[in-house]
Parts: sequence; C-alpha cells; structure tokens
Amino acid sequence: MTGTFPAGFYWGAATAAFQIEGATKEDGRGESIWDRFAATPGAILTGETGDPAADSYHHYPDDIALMQQIGLNSYRFSIAWPRVVPDGDGAVNPKGLDYYDRVVDALLAAGIKPFVTLYHWDLPQALQDRGGWANRATVDAYLRYAEVVVKRLGDRVKQWMTHNEPWCISILSHELGKHAPGLQDTKIALQVAHHILLSHGKVVPIVRQHSPNAEVGIVLNLNPSYPATDTEADKRAADMFHAKFNLWFLDPLAGRGYPQSAWQDYSANVPHIAAGDMEAMTVPTDFLGVNYYSRAILHDPKGGVGKIVTRRNPVNMMSRGWDVAPHSMVELLTWLHKDYAYPKLMITENGATYDDVIWDGQIHDLARIDYIKQHLKVLPDLIASGVPLTGYFCWSLLDNFEWAEGTRDRFGLAYTDFTTQHRLLKDSGYWYKRVIQANAVVD
Ligand code: FCB
Repeated sequence: MTGTFPAGFYWGAATAAFQIEGATKEDGRGESIWDRFAATPGAILTGETGDPAADSYHHYPDDIALMQQIGLNSYRFSIAWPRVVPDGDGAVNPKGLDYYDRVVDALLAAGIKPFVTLYHWDLPQALQDRGGWANRATVDAYLRYAEVVVKRLGDRVKQWMTHNEPWCISILSHELGKHAPGLQDTKIALQVAHHILLSHGKVVPIVRQHSPNAEVGIVLNLNPSYPATDTEADKRAADMFHAKFNLWFLDPLAGRGYPQSAWQDYSANVPHIAAGDMEAMTVPTDFLGVNYYSRAILHDPKGGVGKIVTRRNPVNMMSRGWDVAPHSMVELLTWLHKDYAYPKLMITENGATYDDVIWDGQIHDLARIDYIKQHLKVLPDLIASGVPLTGYFCWSLLDNFEWAEGTRDRFGLAYTDFTTQHRLLKDSGYWYKRVIQANAVVD
C-alpha cells in the first residue's frame, strides 16, 4: 500500500511537565523559573500560572487512558527538575522521583513506550538566582540532576532527549524576553545557548552509562527560512535568520563550530568558550528530534536596519498566525539528512492550535485534522527516499498551559476542561487513531 509507514514506526503525542502537571507546590516540588515568570504581571496573556494546568500530577491515569483510546505506542513527556532536585543542586526529593516512576510503570503496563525529555524549560528558580544557564555551574547541576533521573528510570526508559528547543531556552527567553526568565540580553542569551549545547554533550555519556541500550538525542526547533521577495536585502535576511536560528545549534553539535556569518554579526555578544567545550558538545547521538510547526519568511525593507521577521501567509494559517507549510518540512528533513546524516530523525513535535468549539459534546476540529494530515501525507515518500524518520509525535496529547499564551492556545488531540479537568477526545484524536491503526494516512 502506498503511503504506508514502516513497521515499528513510533506513533506518539508529546507534552511537557510544566504545561500539564499543575501541583506546583505539592510533594516537595521547588519553585521553577516558570512559576516565577508566570506570576509576573503581564507575562502570560491570560494571566494564568502553571496551576492547575491539566493537573496531570493527579490525572496521569486519565492521560494514559486517553493514549490508549487513541492507540499511541509512544509518549513523549518531560521531567520537572524542581520536583526531583527542588533547589537545583541540593537534596533529591524522593516523592518527585516516585511520581515519574509511577508514570513510567503505568505507561509500560499500557504498552506505551516512554520518551523522556530531561529539560523542557522548568529550571529551578534557585539556580536562576545564581545566574541560571548563563552560569557554567548550572551545567554541573544539570548533569547531577540528570544522573539521578536516569539512574532511577533508566532500566525502563530507553529513549532520552537531553533538551527541548535550545533556541527557545536561549534566544526566546533571554534575548527576546518572551519566556522565563524573561531577560533581554543577547550576550547572556548566547552564553545560555553555549551552556545548553555543552550540557547536552556532557550528559549523553551519563545517560548511556545508566540506561543500557538506550537511545539518546536532542530536540531542536527548526525553521526553514525564505526571503519574502527577490531583493538582495531579503535574501541576506533569510540567510542570517537561518544561521542564527538553525545553524547556530546544528553546526556546533555536528563539530562545525558556530556559523561564521552569525558569529560576526553577533560581534561582542558571542559566548565565552572554554577549552574543550566544542569537542564536548560534538558527541554522537542516536537521533535528532525535530520540532516543526511552520517556516519563516524574512523581509528586510530597510536594507539591514529594522528587519521584519514574519511567518504569516494570510491564505493558510493556524489561529496563532503560523502558516501551514508541509512542503517546508519536507525540504527541512531532506536537507538535514543530506547535510548532517543523523542515524535517525524523529518529528518530536508537530501540531496546530485552532479555536475549538464543543458542539453537542463533540469537537469537530477539521482544521487540525487537515494540518496533521498534510504533514503526515508527505512522510512515507520521504522515508522511501531514504530519510531515516522513525517516529511522529503530535503536539499535544491534550490542551495544556501553552507558555506565554496561557490556555488560550489549544493544541490537544483531546480537549481539556481546565475547571473540571475532564478530557474529551477531539475528532482529530479519533482520526489519529485510525491513522495509527492503518499505519498509513487515512481520510
Ligand atoms: C514548542 C514547545 C512546546 C509547545 C509547542 C506549541 O515550541 O516545545 O512546549 O509549546 O511549541
């Protein structure tokens, strides 16, 4: 059958601890930078915090029931560092570890493979108070935290992701100020990016040591970039965006160092690099996780001053204003395979937010189905052409706390009622179930 996926393809959905768990003060969990940031007036569009989010700390059996209802064989979730080591580098909190232990066991009992992200943005606030990721000591704290987690879960978890989206951790959070900790300082942001990449390189051997036969990789959010017009200025803007957004993370991991054009452009803001750092981050991994949602279209009307970055294509976009561009995902994956040759690639996030309406107890989210369908449809041919894509994780299993947008943006295959915590499978969830059953895209 054409359009079929390979046997053993990972069909999953993804979440992140801070976005779903709630219970931010329970069982010894420490404060995270997201608790602090969300409490800052104006930081979150809806004024919400991480409580209750989807309260998965208490409702994880409901989440797993949802996964079973959809027929997922894989689930990507993250561990909250402040649950495990509440002050970042001090005492370990057994109750925090116990929680993830229960989640992993329940997943395995349900026949669902756990894919664990070690860091999905919720740094313990105590570490931020000492400079956060810009402080090199945070790398060591991360390695210790990770070792604690992998020692506990590594007998059962065999798929590890070191970091989620270094661009968001660094630039979005420390240069653009949109995410925690809300700083606006390019130099700090680039030092953060450097330490994230370094900590990735250093943690991989620790994961391998304590989780025999595991696969480990990093997750990058990548945006293919295109000039809005044929002008030289727009082409230059697209090239620079590509260098800063994509290559800045891909190239050091591949042993190529930071891209020259961006390095020059960043000028005095470039990070401090200690001896051995670049070698340490170039550790071989088993896969690269790719989060793909949209592309970037660059327009620079003034030839270098005041460039405009836009992702808008008014003809076809999701509620958030990201345009729907599955062909760009094909270009991206093809290029990644050709240029970087990772042993395996996975789509660790892809999905869409639309304004859902409950109609007689059902959610007919046809636009979301269409988005996912368009992105899945192109994959079998890509795989047949030799791109080693082994899995697809829809963002998200259920509506959750969507960072700076609060619960306004709903990405779930299931609708979350944040008052009752009732989960309701959307039509997209029912459709995804048929896809998984067929191991092929269905109408
Ligand atoms: C990604 C994040 C994920 C979610 C989606 C919509 O950048 O990794 O947590 O917020 O965007």
